[in-house]
Amino acid sequence: ARAAAKWKVGFSQCTTLEPWRVQFNKDIQAEAKNQPDVDLVITDGQDKTEKQVADCENLIVQQVNVLLISPKESAGLTGVVEKAIDAKIPVIVLDRNVDTRRITQFIGGDNVAIGRAAGEHAVKLLGGPGKATGNVVEIWGGMGTQPAHDRHDGFHAFTDKEPGIKNLLNNQSGDWKQDKAYNIMTTALRNNEKIDLVYGHNDPMAYGAYLAAKDAGRDKDIKFILGIDGLPDEGVTWVSKGQLTATFLYATPGAEGLRQAVKLLKGEQLQPVITLPTMLITKDNAQAILKKNGLL
Ligand code: FRU
Repeated sequence: ARAAAKWKVGFSQCTTLEPWRVQFNKDIQAEAKNQPDVDLVITDGQDKTEKQVADCENLIVQQVNVLLISPKESAGLTGVVEKAIDAKIPVIVLDRNVDTRRITQFIGGDNVAIGRAAGEHAVKLLGGPGKATGNVVEIWGGMGTQPAHDRHDGFHAFTDKEPGIKNLLNNQSGDWKQDKAYNIMTTALRNNEKIDLVYGHNDPMAYGAYLAAKDAGRDKDIKFILGIDGLPDEGVTWVSKGQLTATFLYATPGAEGLRQAVKLLKGEQLQPVITLPTMLITKDNAQAILKKNGLL
Protein backbone atom coordinates (compact mmCIF):
# COMPACT_ATOMS: atom_id res chain seq x y z
CA ALA A 1 0.00 0.00 0.00
CA ARG A 2 1.04 3.52 -0.73
CA ALA A 3 2.46 5.41 2.25
CA ALA A 4 0.15 8.15 3.50
CA ALA A 5 0.85 11.35 1.62
CA LYS A 6 2.18 14.29 3.56
CA TRP A 7 -0.52 16.71 2.51
CA LYS A 8 -4.18 16.58 1.64
CA VAL A 9 -5.34 19.02 -1.00
CA GLY A 10 -9.06 19.45 -1.62
CA PHE A 11 -10.39 20.65 -4.94
CA SER A 12 -13.99 21.74 -5.17
CA GLN A 13 -15.01 21.72 -8.82
CA CYS A 14 -18.37 23.37 -9.58
CA THR A 15 -19.56 20.92 -12.22
CA THR A 16 -18.51 18.17 -14.59
CA LEU A 17 -21.42 18.79 -16.95
CA GLU A 18 -19.28 20.94 -19.23
CA PRO A 19 -16.39 19.62 -21.36
CA TRP A 20 -14.00 22.34 -20.21
CA ARG A 21 -14.54 21.18 -16.60
CA VAL A 22 -13.80 17.59 -17.55
CA GLN A 23 -10.51 18.71 -19.12
CA PHE A 24 -9.79 20.83 -16.04
CA ASN A 25 -10.14 17.77 -13.79
CA LYS A 26 -7.94 15.72 -16.13
CA ASP A 27 -5.27 18.44 -15.97
CA ILE A 28 -5.21 18.54 -12.18
CA GLN A 29 -5.23 14.74 -11.93
CA ALA A 30 -2.30 14.50 -14.34
CA GLU A 31 -0.35 17.00 -12.24
CA ALA A 32 -1.22 15.05 -9.07
CA LYS A 33 0.77 12.14 -10.52
CA ASN A 34 3.87 14.38 -10.35
CA GLN A 35 3.20 15.26 -6.72
CA PRO A 36 3.85 12.20 -4.51
CA ASP A 37 3.45 14.26 -1.33
CA VAL A 38 -0.12 15.16 -2.18
CA ASP A 39 -3.32 13.29 -1.68
CA LEU A 40 -5.81 15.07 -3.96
CA VAL A 41 -9.53 14.92 -3.22
CA ILE A 42 -11.83 16.25 -5.96
CA THR A 43 -15.50 16.96 -5.35
CA ASP A 44 -18.19 17.70 -7.96
CA GLY A 45 -20.70 20.43 -7.18
CA GLN A 46 -23.00 19.09 -9.92
CA ASP A 47 -23.61 22.65 -11.15
CA LYS A 48 -25.50 23.54 -7.96
CA THR A 49 -24.34 26.21 -5.54
CA GLU A 50 -25.76 24.38 -2.49
CA LYS A 51 -23.97 21.16 -3.44
CA GLN A 52 -20.69 22.98 -3.93
CA VAL A 53 -21.06 24.75 -0.56
CA ALA A 54 -21.67 21.37 1.09
CA ASP A 55 -18.60 19.93 -0.69
CA CYS A 56 -16.43 22.74 0.70
CA GLU A 57 -17.87 22.29 4.20
CA ASN A 58 -16.89 18.65 3.91
CA LEU A 59 -13.35 19.46 2.82
CA ILE A 60 -13.05 21.87 5.75
CA VAL A 61 -14.16 19.11 8.15
CA GLN A 62 -11.53 16.82 6.58
CA GLN A 63 -8.99 19.54 7.40
CA VAL A 64 -7.42 19.68 3.98
CA ASN A 65 -4.11 21.56 3.99
CA VAL A 66 -5.13 23.72 1.02
CA LEU A 67 -8.53 24.28 -0.54
CA LEU A 68 -8.65 24.80 -4.29
CA ILE A 69 -12.02 25.97 -5.55
CA SER A 70 -13.48 26.81 -8.95
CA PRO A 71 -16.80 28.32 -7.94
CA LYS A 72 -20.11 27.96 -9.76
CA GLU A 73 -20.79 31.64 -9.03
CA SER A 74 -19.26 34.37 -6.91
CA ALA A 75 -21.85 35.40 -4.33
CA GLY A 76 -23.03 31.95 -3.23
CA LEU A 77 -19.56 30.54 -2.60
CA THR A 78 -18.00 33.52 -0.83
CA GLY A 79 -19.25 32.56 2.64
CA VAL A 80 -17.81 29.06 2.64
CA VAL A 81 -14.49 30.31 1.27
CA GLU A 82 -14.28 32.71 4.21
CA LYS A 83 -15.22 29.87 6.52
CA ALA A 84 -12.23 27.87 5.26
CA ILE A 85 -9.93 30.85 5.70
CA ASP A 86 -11.27 31.36 9.24
CA ALA A 87 -10.41 27.68 9.86
CA LYS A 88 -6.83 28.53 8.79
CA ILE A 89 -7.11 26.69 5.48
CA PRO A 90 -5.48 28.70 2.67
CA VAL A 91 -7.70 29.04 -0.39
CA ILE A 92 -6.63 29.23 -4.02
CA VAL A 93 -9.46 30.29 -6.33
CA LEU A 94 -9.49 29.09 -9.93
CA ASP A 95 -11.17 30.60 -13.03
CA ARG A 96 -14.30 32.20 -11.51
CA ASN A 97 -13.76 34.45 -8.51
CA VAL A 98 -15.48 35.00 -5.15
CA ASP A 99 -16.28 38.31 -3.43
CA THR A 100 -13.50 38.42 -0.86
CA ARG A 101 -9.92 39.62 -0.94
CA ARG A 102 -8.84 37.23 1.81
CA ILE A 103 -7.90 34.39 -0.54
CA THR A 104 -4.26 33.36 -0.95
CA GLN A 105 -4.23 33.37 -4.74
CA PHE A 106 -6.36 33.62 -7.86
CA ILE A 107 -5.43 31.75 -11.06
CA GLY A 108 -7.35 32.24 -14.29
CA GLY A 109 -7.47 33.76 -17.72
CA ASP A 110 -7.82 37.49 -18.31
CA ASN A 111 -11.43 37.52 -19.39
CA VAL A 112 -11.53 41.26 -20.06
CA ALA A 113 -8.58 40.83 -22.43
CA ILE A 114 -10.26 37.85 -24.10
CA GLY A 115 -13.53 39.81 -24.45
CA ARG A 116 -11.60 42.72 -25.94
CA ALA A 117 -9.84 40.43 -28.39
CA ALA A 118 -13.22 39.00 -29.39
CA GLY A 119 -14.67 42.51 -29.78
CA GLU A 120 -11.74 43.69 -31.84
CA HIS A 121 -11.98 40.61 -34.03
CA ALA A 122 -15.75 41.09 -34.46
CA VAL A 123 -15.26 44.70 -35.58
CA LYS A 124 -12.62 43.56 -38.06
CA LEU A 125 -14.88 40.82 -39.46
CA LEU A 126 -17.80 43.23 -39.80
CA GLY A 127 -15.89 45.75 -41.88
CA GLY A 128 -13.24 47.34 -39.72
CA PRO A 129 -13.11 50.23 -37.24
CA GLY A 130 -15.42 53.10 -38.14
CA LYS A 131 -17.02 51.04 -40.94
CA ALA A 132 -18.26 47.92 -39.17
CA THR A 133 -21.92 47.06 -39.73
CA GLY A 134 -23.98 44.10 -38.67
CA ASN A 135 -26.54 42.58 -36.35
CA VAL A 136 -24.98 40.83 -33.38
CA VAL A 137 -26.35 38.11 -31.11
CA GLU A 138 -24.42 37.80 -27.85
CA ILE A 139 -25.09 34.81 -25.61
CA TRP A 140 -23.97 35.32 -22.04
CA GLY A 141 -22.46 32.74 -19.72
CA GLY A 142 -23.67 32.56 -16.10
CA MET A 143 -24.85 35.98 -14.93
CA GLY A 144 -23.47 35.43 -11.44
CA THR A 145 -19.91 34.90 -12.69
CA GLN A 146 -17.09 37.36 -13.31
CA PRO A 147 -15.92 35.70 -16.56
CA ALA A 148 -19.31 36.39 -18.21
CA HIS A 149 -19.29 40.05 -17.15
CA ASP A 150 -15.67 40.49 -18.20
CA ARG A 151 -16.25 38.78 -21.55
CA HIS A 152 -19.22 41.08 -22.12
CA ASP A 153 -17.46 44.30 -21.05
CA GLY A 154 -14.31 43.59 -23.06
CA PHE A 155 -16.32 42.84 -26.21
CA HIS A 156 -18.42 45.97 -25.93
CA ALA A 157 -15.38 48.19 -25.37
CA PHE A 158 -14.88 47.66 -29.12
CA THR A 159 -18.31 46.99 -30.61
CA ASP A 160 -20.10 49.85 -28.80
CA LYS A 161 -17.86 52.34 -30.61
CA GLU A 162 -19.36 51.23 -33.92
CA PRO A 163 -22.62 52.97 -34.82
CA GLY A 164 -23.21 50.35 -37.53
CA ILE A 165 -23.28 47.44 -35.09
CA LYS A 166 -26.64 46.58 -33.62
CA ASN A 167 -27.11 44.31 -30.60
CA LEU A 168 -30.19 42.17 -31.13
CA LEU A 169 -30.48 40.70 -27.64
CA ASN A 170 -30.64 42.29 -24.24
CA ASN A 171 -28.29 40.38 -21.88
CA GLN A 172 -29.62 36.85 -22.44
CA SER A 173 -27.84 34.09 -20.56
CA GLY A 174 -27.32 30.54 -21.78
CA ASP A 175 -25.62 29.71 -18.47
CA TRP A 176 -22.63 28.25 -20.40
CA LYS A 177 -24.85 25.47 -21.84
CA GLN A 178 -25.11 24.38 -25.45
CA ASP A 179 -28.80 23.49 -25.27
CA LYS A 180 -29.80 26.78 -23.65
CA ALA A 181 -27.86 28.70 -26.30
CA TYR A 182 -29.60 26.64 -28.98
CA ASN A 183 -32.97 27.81 -27.64
CA ILE A 184 -31.88 31.46 -27.38
CA MET A 185 -30.62 31.37 -30.96
CA THR A 186 -33.74 29.64 -32.26
CA THR A 187 -35.84 32.49 -30.84
CA ALA A 188 -33.40 35.11 -32.12
CA LEU A 189 -33.62 33.61 -35.62
CA ARG A 190 -37.40 33.67 -35.46
CA ASN A 191 -37.40 37.35 -34.42
CA ASN A 192 -34.70 38.63 -36.77
CA GLU A 193 -34.39 38.31 -40.49
CA LYS A 194 -30.72 39.18 -40.48
CA ILE A 195 -28.08 38.00 -38.03
CA ASP A 196 -24.49 38.62 -39.03
CA LEU A 197 -22.42 37.60 -36.04
CA VAL A 198 -22.89 35.49 -32.94
CA TYR A 199 -20.69 35.89 -29.88
CA GLY A 200 -21.01 33.04 -27.40
CA HIS A 201 -19.25 33.44 -24.06
CA ASN A 202 -17.98 29.87 -24.50
CA ASP A 203 -17.63 27.34 -27.31
CA PRO A 204 -20.49 25.03 -26.33
CA MET A 205 -22.90 27.98 -26.55
CA ALA A 206 -21.38 29.21 -29.83
CA TYR A 207 -21.80 25.70 -31.21
CA GLY A 208 -25.38 25.52 -29.89
CA ALA A 209 -26.10 28.73 -31.82
CA TYR A 210 -24.55 27.22 -34.94
CA LEU A 211 -26.75 24.11 -34.62
CA ALA A 212 -29.85 26.27 -34.20
CA ALA A 213 -28.97 28.21 -37.37
CA LYS A 214 -28.34 24.95 -39.22
CA ASP A 215 -31.64 23.46 -38.09
CA ALA A 216 -33.40 26.65 -39.22
CA GLY A 217 -31.66 26.35 -42.60
CA ARG A 218 -29.83 29.61 -42.01
CA ASP A 219 -26.27 28.57 -41.10
CA LYS A 220 -24.98 29.99 -44.41
CA ASP A 221 -26.52 33.42 -43.63
CA ILE A 222 -24.85 33.78 -40.23
CA LYS A 223 -21.47 34.99 -41.40
CA PHE A 224 -19.46 34.79 -38.22
CA ILE A 225 -19.65 32.82 -34.97
CA LEU A 226 -17.15 33.45 -32.17
CA GLY A 227 -16.59 31.33 -29.07
CA ILE A 228 -14.16 30.98 -26.17
CA ASP A 229 -12.32 27.96 -24.62
CA GLY A 230 -10.48 26.40 -27.54
CA LEU A 231 -10.50 22.78 -26.39
CA PRO A 232 -8.95 20.72 -29.22
CA ASP A 233 -11.79 18.19 -29.42
CA GLU A 234 -14.52 20.82 -29.47
CA GLY A 235 -13.85 24.54 -30.18
CA VAL A 236 -10.74 23.95 -32.30
CA THR A 237 -12.42 21.12 -34.19
CA TRP A 238 -15.51 23.27 -34.88
CA VAL A 239 -13.30 26.11 -36.13
CA SER A 240 -11.38 23.74 -38.39
CA LYS A 241 -14.70 22.53 -39.86
CA GLY A 242 -15.86 26.11 -40.40
CA GLN A 243 -18.76 25.75 -37.98
CA LEU A 244 -17.27 28.47 -35.77
CA THR A 245 -15.27 31.36 -37.21
CA ALA A 246 -12.88 31.69 -34.31
CA THR A 247 -12.34 30.84 -30.67
CA PHE A 248 -9.98 32.06 -27.97
CA LEU A 249 -7.90 29.70 -25.91
CA TYR A 250 -8.94 29.60 -22.27
CA ALA A 251 -6.43 27.28 -20.65
CA THR A 252 -7.62 25.40 -17.57
CA PRO A 253 -5.88 26.32 -14.32
CA GLY A 254 -5.83 22.68 -13.16
CA ALA A 255 -2.13 21.86 -13.34
CA GLU A 256 -0.94 25.30 -12.24
CA GLY A 257 -3.41 25.28 -9.36
CA LEU A 258 -1.96 22.13 -7.88
CA ARG A 259 1.64 23.24 -8.45
CA GLN A 260 0.90 26.47 -6.58
CA ALA A 261 -0.73 24.57 -3.71
CA VAL A 262 2.43 22.48 -3.36
CA LYS A 263 4.61 25.60 -3.44
CA LEU A 264 2.55 27.04 -0.61
CA LEU A 265 2.79 23.82 1.41
CA LYS A 266 6.57 23.92 0.99
CA GLY A 267 6.54 27.30 2.68
CA GLU A 268 6.89 29.51 -0.35
CA GLN A 269 5.10 32.81 -0.74
CA LEU A 270 2.54 32.90 -3.57
CA GLN A 271 1.92 35.82 -5.89
CA PRO A 272 -1.68 37.04 -5.48
CA VAL A 273 -2.72 36.54 -9.11
CA ILE A 274 -1.54 34.27 -11.91
CA THR A 275 -2.95 35.11 -15.34
CA LEU A 276 -3.02 32.32 -17.90
CA PRO A 277 -2.27 33.14 -21.55
CA THR A 278 -4.75 33.11 -24.42
CA MET A 279 -4.55 33.04 -28.21
CA LEU A 280 -6.78 33.58 -31.20
CA ILE A 281 -7.71 30.36 -32.98
CA THR A 282 -8.96 30.60 -36.56
CA LYS A 283 -8.91 28.37 -39.63
CA ASP A 284 -5.28 29.49 -40.08
CA ASN A 285 -3.93 27.73 -36.99
CA ALA A 286 -6.69 25.25 -36.05
CA GLN A 287 -5.19 22.38 -38.07
CA ALA A 288 -1.78 22.83 -36.49
CA ILE A 289 -3.33 22.73 -33.00
CA LEU A 290 -5.27 19.57 -33.88
CA LYS A 291 -2.10 17.94 -35.17
CA LYS A 292 -0.20 18.87 -32.04
CA ASN A 293 -2.92 17.21 -29.98
CA GLY A 294 -2.93 14.07 -32.06
CA LEU A 295 -6.38 14.77 -33.49
CA LEU A 296 -5.32 14.86 -37.14
C1 FRU B 1 -17.06 25.69 -18.02
C2 FRU B 1 -17.02 27.11 -18.43
C3 FRU B 1 -16.13 27.33 -19.62
C4 FRU B 1 -15.86 28.77 -19.48
C5 FRU B 1 -15.65 28.90 -18.00
C6 FRU B 1 -15.93 30.25 -17.48
O1 FRU B 1 -17.84 25.52 -16.88
O2 FRU B 1 -18.33 27.52 -18.72
O3 FRU B 1 -16.73 26.99 -20.82
O4 FRU B 1 -14.81 29.24 -20.23
O5 FRU B 1 -16.50 27.95 -17.42
O6 FRU B 1 -15.91 30.29 -16.10
